[in-house]
Amino acid sequence: MVLMKSPAGFFRVRTFLVVAFACLIACQPGEEAAEPPKAVDYAEIEARLEPRAPRGKTSDAFPNIRMTDQHGHEYRFFDDLIKDRSVVVNFMFTDCALICPGTTSHLARLHAVFGSAMGRDLTFISVTLDPENDSQEALHEYWKAFGGHENWLYLRGDFEETELLRRRMGVYDLDPVVDADKTSHGGIVTFGSDAKDRWAALPALSSLHDLRDTIIRFALAGRRPRPAAVGDDGSAPNAGMDRVYSGQGVIREISPEKAEVIIEHEKIDGLMPAMTMAFSLAKGLSLEGFSVGEAVRFGLVNSDDGFEVVALGRDRPEPPSAPSASAASGAGGKDYALYCASCHGPAGDGDGPLAATLDPRPARHSDAEYMAGVSDADLFRVIQEGGAAVGKSPLMAAWGGTLSEDQIKNLVAFIRTLAKPPAAAEGQGSQD
Ligand code: HEC
Repeated sequence: MVLMKSPAGFFRVRTFLVVAFACLIACQPGEEAAEPPKAVDYAEIEARLEPRAPRGKTSDAFPNIRMTDQHGHEYRFFDDLIKDRSVVVNFMFTDCALICPGTTSHLARLHAVFGSAMGRDLTFISVTLDPENDSQEALHEYWKAFGGHENWLYLRGDFEETELLRRRMGVYDLDPVVDADKTSHGGIVTFGSDAKDRWAALPALSSLHDLRDTIIRFALAGRRPRPAAVGDDGSAPNAGMDRVYSGQGVIREISPEKAEVIIEHEKIDGLMPAMTMAFSLAKGLSLEGFSVGEAVRFGLVNSDDGFEVVALGRDRPEPPSAPSASAASGAGGKDYALYCASCHGPAGDGDGPLAATLDPRPARHSDAEYMAGVSDADLFRVIQEGGAAVGKSPLMAAWGGTLSEDQIKNLVAFIRTLAKPPAAAEGQGSQD
């Protein structure tokens, strides 16, 4: 779709979002009649590819197709990106406004959790399912709109070969009609280590805690190869040093100034017996929401200055960013978490993952004073008709084509529960 690309090359984030949200309404799956599935002859595609000697590993099944990233670099998928490496892979396309932006911003937070310490050895790969539409420039814009992170490749290849790749990575539905709907594949993230021959997949919107933990376990535990650093003679340097350890312990002290956490741990698998020690925090890791005395799980990775803590999870699974149980309850709460939290934040604090890229910033629905001056009818209208219709920013899309009146009513009711302290549903100017 030409809309996605500006002739100047780069479009601004703002334009991107407006287009994306316009498409959200136009491209609602289910509204159009189901297209007949495009028949892909997997055996035929496979016959086109160079055969490889099997090594008895799961990833032997991943085709070695040619792909190009958002910067124009070319790769052979298996040889250059999978073999001996650890990766996190998802499938997306830039026109997919319904699920992909939420997934991508969630994965961006996951990427930040791993930070630079792991970035070197854990590559994030997003493969477009729509290579005809997603040019290198479109992927580059999308990558930039979601933070432009290093170690995150947006790849495009031949459509049919990509279909084979998706199938071989297990991201498909047994029902061919569902399988033909590209939006149904955006929700899965696959990760693993070729060296360890361990692979797993999770719903991409699983809690960051679960994703972190599982990725550490599957894709990173044990020796991590560093193909980029292989010596001229082909030997792997730092063998044995390049490790990730995981453990369990109790937080004794948190010092954000020093970016340090002191954990009294029971045991760090494969490393050392119980003791108390301080770890520097990997860049990008936030300790917000954790407190002294709390039992946590963590991972350690070798960095240039010792070990860095790369993952902290509570023993009770509860992601730091999850909306509170009461806030998430009810239909309005679910829709809010799905459609609105990416900008307005899970608790309506205007701090969703996309918020930083927006100007003006998304409204703070938790601001009781402000919200008391807005009537339910105003809220209903701005949600249904969009910001532009009421003289506000078009970044606030019109949701009337996506959400029913009842859904919007429930959202309004839900938004009213976010105000701290709760604001009465008063009309404008009716305050004393
Ligand atoms: C792409 C980001 C984005 C998403 C997603 C989004 N909003 Fe907004 N929203 C905004 C921005 C930005 C504003 C501020 C507009 C302004 O002040 O000009 C806004 C404003 C609003 C307002 C107006 C508050 C006031 O000042 O009167 C309401 C209500 C609102 N959004 C509700 C929702 C609901 C409900 C959803 C989910 C169905 C949602 N928004 C999804 C970005 C977003």
